[in-house]
Amino acid sequence: MSGPQLLLRQLRREAEGIVSYEFVSAGGAPLPAFTAGAHIDLQLPGGLQRSYSLVNDPSERHRYVIAVDRAAESRGGSAWMHSTPRPGDGFASSVPVNDFPLYEDAPLSIFIAGGIGITPFMAMAARLNTLGRAWRLHYAVRSRQRAAYLQELNALDRSGTAVNLHCTSENMARPDIAAIVREAPAGSHLYCCGPNGMLDAFTSACSGLPSQRVHLERFSASQEAATDGGYEVRLARSGKTLNVEAGRTLLDTLLDAGVTVQYSCSQGICGTCCTPVLEGTPDHRDDYLTHEEKAANQAMMVCCSGSLSARLVLDI
Ligand code: FES
Repeated sequence: MSGPQLLLRQLRREAEGIVSYEFVSAGGAPLPAFTAGAHIDLQLPGGLQRSYSLVNDPSERHRYVIAVDRAAESRGGSAWMHSTPRPGDGFASSVPVNDFPLYEDAPLSIFIAGGIGITPFMAMAARLNTLGRAWRLHYAVRSRQRAAYLQELNALDRSGTAVNLHCTSENMARPDIAAIVREAPAGSHLYCCGPNGMLDAFTSACSGLPSQRVHLERFSASQEAATDGGYEVRLARSGKTLNVEAGRTLLDTLLDAGVTVQYSCSQGICGTCCTPVLEGTPDHRDDYLTHEEKAANQAMMVCCSGSLSARLVLDI
């Protein structure tokens, strides 16, 4: 990995099923700077890489803090993070990457978080406090015990009215996303991070707003990966031709053939595996490319997308 070598300094239980991890630089040098909404990719055993939002104040250079929900992920990374790491363990990390940037000049930033989706908003709220800009948070959780960072949020909430908690176990109403969007003041920017149902409601509520004011981050894919197979992939640079069989993703097929491909989330979220397409029509299944980019068919996420044409030619 291209980023710093990290040392796990401490773990802390933040809520039921949620643990935070504070990393410092293994060499003691200041860590690469990050902006609010950024994440790091951590290298885990077995070739797993996982992306985690940075929770701490972006002005800090001495540490990275992430939080992991044991229930949020079923593909091994979360379970390992909850059972194995101990203070003093070393981790390889990427440099911070920001696919969910904060628009810092908005008169008001409105955050809608579901569960562990609170993490990027912690850094964003801290940054907006530094800038003296207003923010508002709607935070949906199953129960108060499952709500991470309540104390920290209360400390960040200088007005005392910015944080709205919605606990389904306490018969509180879920956030009315359509109303939040409808009543958002002119010029405000809206952000959502949470489960797919929440993101889908957010996307549909925001469909009439200019896209520059609407920001979302997924932590799980909204669509299944394409595994129908039955098409051929030609790799223009090496001249290799591979057949993608049913039951295999394009990424599986490339890796099986010994092709070097950069990838991280394997779910069409992070954009790491974006690959130029020279010919053919991909079956786009990712949440990374815009509608326009998908329609242009000049790039595809090989981790999850397949092919609508009998042949694809990729620039790798
Ligand atoms: S690896 Fe993340 S989009 Fe493909």
